[in-house]
Amino acid sequence: MLIRRPPDIPTSEITEERHYVSRRAWLAAAGVTAVAITANRVMAARGKSPAPVVGAEAFADDPTSFKDITTYNNFYEFGTGKDDPAKNAHTLRPRPWSVVVEGDVKKPGRYDLDDLLKGIPVVDRTYRHRCVEAWSMVIPWNGIQLKDLINRLEPGTKAKYIEFHTLYDTTQMPMQRTNIMPWPYVEGLRMDEARHPLTLLATGLYGKSLLNQNGAPLRLVVPWKYGFKGGKSIVKIRFVEEQPRNSWQLLAPDEYGFFANVNPAVDHPRWSQARERRIGDFLKRPTLPFNGYADQVASLYAGMDPRTLY
Ligand code: MTE
Repeated sequence: MLIRRPPDIPTSEITEERHYVSRRAWLAAAGVTAVAITANRVMAARGKSPAPVVGAEAFADDPTSFKDITTYNNFYEFGTGKDDPAKNAHTLRPRPWSVVVEGDVKKPGRYDLDDLLKGIPVVDRTYRHRCVEAWSMVIPWNGIQLKDLINRLEPGTKAKYIEFHTLYDTTQMPMQRTNIMPWPYVEGLRMDEARHPLTLLATGLYGKSLLNQNGAPLRLVVPWKYGFKGGKSIVKIRFVEEQPRNSWQLLAPDEYGFFANVNPAVDHPRWSQARERRIGDFLKRPTLPFNGYADQVASLYAGMDPRTLY
């Protein structure tokens, strides 16, 4: 994400061979799996036990370990290294926590977080998590569906977008004394994206409350978008008419857009998005359009050119 090339992105992720290698890997993986599945169906129809699907193990979506999810993070308020948030985020105090609601909404105000969420059903959702830096994880989140909170707050007809602000407090978030990013961290969604049933406000993972480094006590999770859309440690929710300018877009408009939909066909200006390194895996895997959630979300963008939605 850094403007200078981050040291954790291996040069192999950024090479010119990206197009043909990744395309070939994609076709190979898809082909092997399709052939194996077809063969298995034929075998099963003949009453024989199916052979294991070659390559399926390498591309399985098993949850990433708790340790990796909580020690390999992006949270620039605590440093730019992947292990900085786990080391430094102990200065964040996630309770008591209040959230300000403002803009075109019937129930604006400053809410205690527990009051704000009280009575909203908690859901468990294991989602793929794809960082724009071409690494990925699988995270078992728990939290609420954002649509339930939106319904509780009753936005007006001028609320076309929803904007999220992270805490701004230099005593709790020391890196905010530097100007590596415009602070506070801001993210936003179009209202239909925010109301989509896949969109969560997470309060925990692996059945435990969120650790500070993962965005305690409240963070956004939008699984078909690059991870930077998932603003952490949210203190303000605004219902607005204009499309918000998110922090990464402000910092580098040529590299980061508003929609940030995962799209293997559109490279980041400095590296390929065709493949990704699943944390804990040896082999890279193909990146899926909309991070594998196209069936559920592609219709939100009907008529829009998916190549412009980065
Ligand atoms: N939220 C805040 N407040 N600050 C950040 O630096 N980084 C984003 C996003 N949310 C970030 C943030 C990026 S770039 C990613 S990939 C995800 O958080 C990483 O989430 P994780 O560390 O829980 O995997």
